[in-house]
Amino acid sequence: MENQPVVLIVDDEPTNLAVLGDILEDQGYEVIAAVSGEGALATAKEMQPDIVLLDINMPGWDGYETAQELRQCADIRPVPILFLSAQNDTQSKVKGFSVGAKDFITKPFQSEELLARLCTHLELDRLKTSLELEVTKKTKELTESHRKLEGAFKESLRLLSVAGEYRDIETGLHTRRIGEYARQTALLLGWGKADAERLQIAAPLHDIGKIGIPDTILLKNGRLTADEWDIMRTHTQIGHAMLQSQSDSKMIQYSAEVALGHHEKYCGGGYPDGLQGEDIPISARIVAVCDVYDALRSVRPYKEGFSHETSVRIILEGDEIAKPEQFDPVILALFEKNDHVFERIFDEFQD
Ligand SMILES: [Fe+2]
Repeated sequence: MENQPVVLIVDDEPTNLAVLGDILEDQGYEVIAAVSGEGALATAKEMQPDIVLLDINMPGWDGYETAQELRQCADIRPVPILFLSAQNDTQSKVKGFSVGAKDFITKPFQSEELLARLCTHLELDRLKTSLELEVTKKTKELTESHRKLEGAFKESLRLLSVAGEYRDIETGLHTRRIGEYARQTALLLGWGKADAERLQIAAPLHDIGKIGIPDTILLKNGRLTADEWDIMRTHTQIGHAMLQSQSDSKMIQYSAEVALGHHEKYCGGGYPDGLQGEDIPISARIVAVCDVYDALRSVRPYKEGFSHETSVRIILEGDEIAKPEQFDPVILALFEKNDHVFERIFDEFQD
């Protein structure tokens, strides 16, 4: 018979081994035997049995010690251990179960009962093993599906941010840069990798509300009138409303927070709500610095692209475009100390 279960029998009495071995072999089991606990450990390592029948009273290691050694040995697959002993008292049985035995059969035994119990434990172990394998397989599949789904979700958000800016900037590079500046700034602030990456995904959607701004204003060649500016400023609320109302996803809600708050000013006087200081979400305070730096560096129909040095000077010292007090001072200090990081990102994501 192929693949018959391998039974390790352990008893210091050769006669017992012979009797037990005959009973088991008659039923088609492959039998291996050991006359001591120490011998059982060596045999188990080499032969990897499917089940162990173990005597208790033996010279050297007794059955309890042997069971513990078998359980703790990393080189032996954890298989059912059944005690087979003349000791019939409750204390011995309890001790046997406490060292990991699955059953306790008293000698003298009825061979039918022994075989029935052996068969039950082998079947339970087979089911347990196959269940574990199935769980491992399904967990792996689920992890892979989750990874793919998350990748697809992030890619969708990235494309959405590109779509949002396609009418005026026509490249995904601005949004990519914003994400990367924001991620690096978050890391510099001491955020964990996962939180920084969450902001990296949310930040590029800051201007998604521009989808709702008419071409005549968004693409206007020349200065906007006061009324046009009022409409332009609504891109923060449009973006927020669009994102917030369309999905319960935490990621989308986070993006909505950035979209709403990225033109607020730390000193007050920003839009849409004129919030101040830490009333402005930290995500939006980070994106505010990133957005202004990138806008200063970039060529627009109405302006040249400033050098890194000029852009840093404008942010740190201020002029009519931006004032340092509009930014979170902690983030500004980090920007001043690490402006080369911003320069590197701008240079890296170019056409
Ligand atoms: Fe904006």
